[in-house]
Amino acid sequence: MPIPRINIIGSGKLGRTLIRLFADHHLVEIGDVFNRSSAHSQAAIEFCGGGRLCESIHDMNTADIWLIATPDDAIASIAEALTETLTKNQPTWTDTVVFHASGLHSSALLEALQNKGAAVASAHPVHSFAKPEQSLISYRGTTCTLEGDPKATEQLSYLFTEIGSTVIPIKASGKALYHAATVVGSNYLAALQQSALDMLDQAGITAPDAKQILQPLMAKSLQNLQNLGPVEALTGPIARGDTHTLTAHIEAITDQDSQHLSLYKELGKIALELARQQAHLDDTHLAAMAKLFSTTP
Ligand SMILES: NC(=O)c1ccc[n+]([C@@H]2O[C@H](COP(=O)([O-])OP(=O)(O)OC[C@H]3O[C@@H](n4cnc5c(N)ncnc54)[C@H](OP(=O)(O)O)[C@@H]3O)[C@@H](O)[C@H]2O)c1
Repeated sequence: MPIPRINIIGSGKLGRTLIRLFADHHLVEIGDVFNRSSAHSQAAIEFCGGGRLCESIHDMNTADIWLIATPDDAIASIAEALTETLTKNQPTWTDTVVFHASGLHSSALLEALQNKGAAVASAHPVHSFAKPEQSLISYRGTTCTLEGDPKATEQLSYLFTEIGSTVIPIKASGKALYHAATVVGSNYLAALQQSALDMLDQAGITAPDAKQILQPLMAKSLQNLQNLGPVEALTGPIARGDTHTLTAHIEAITDQDSQHLSLYKELGKIALELARQQAHLDDTHLAAMAKLFSTTP
């Protein structure tokens, strides 16, 4: 089977990494590369070790697969532009796969091309592509969610599996909630740590000492979560039903900061559900804690 030719529009952090990984695994032939800035295209071509620089979207030649890896907000208009401008170089979109990599949006963003016969998909690697050189090394093991037309998902599933992804199908209707969940599970860890650092600061603990307290604690907790899952990993006053301790915490935080207090209470409600599932506490303790977390100061 001849290897497919892939064109790329938007060869930034994610785009250039994926193309280089596909090419290094001999899965694709790199075709045309377009970004608004030629310098960006040239840098990506050097990084990937191939590709033809296009000054305009109108200059791009036909390909078997197209990756649109621009910022999310530009994807739909690029899909529209492709349908309008490529009739000459890409006479038919049938048998062509077009995909984007947004975590939020589904393949519906590519509807304009789908209407012209293309098989469309969204493929979202759950990976931070902050440094492409690093991602080339660390990508293997990344989960990639995938949805779209069967012809597209079949081909992309193969490509992503070959570069070391575990591919998981996702429903288009679930993508916004899925993406929000990845933000909670990743970005909000930073917010959570900041909240704890703020409280330690208010308790009079120096920044280096605060780091010393929190970093091993958070790392160990994450390890326990990975090994045991949230229900078994939960320890501390909520798991023990220590209502006096929780009351003291709430009073101390109330004295300091309402933002941290609402975070403490809202996450407390979710932790309480985990404690309920552990099934060690009686209903009286569970109800007392539920009341503490629901009461407004
Ligand atoms: N970065 C991540 O960790 C990550 C993870 C998962 C998914 N994603 C998804 O991957 C996609 C790309 O993200 P990224 O972080 O790689 O973005 P990025 O590094 O900012 O790169 C975007 C590229 O698109 C080009 N571009 C912007 N507007 C364009 C337009 N109108 N026409 C043609 N090219 C355009 C930019 O070059 P010019 O400015 O020269 O045009 C740039 O090379 C997004 O859909 C994002 O949601 C990213």
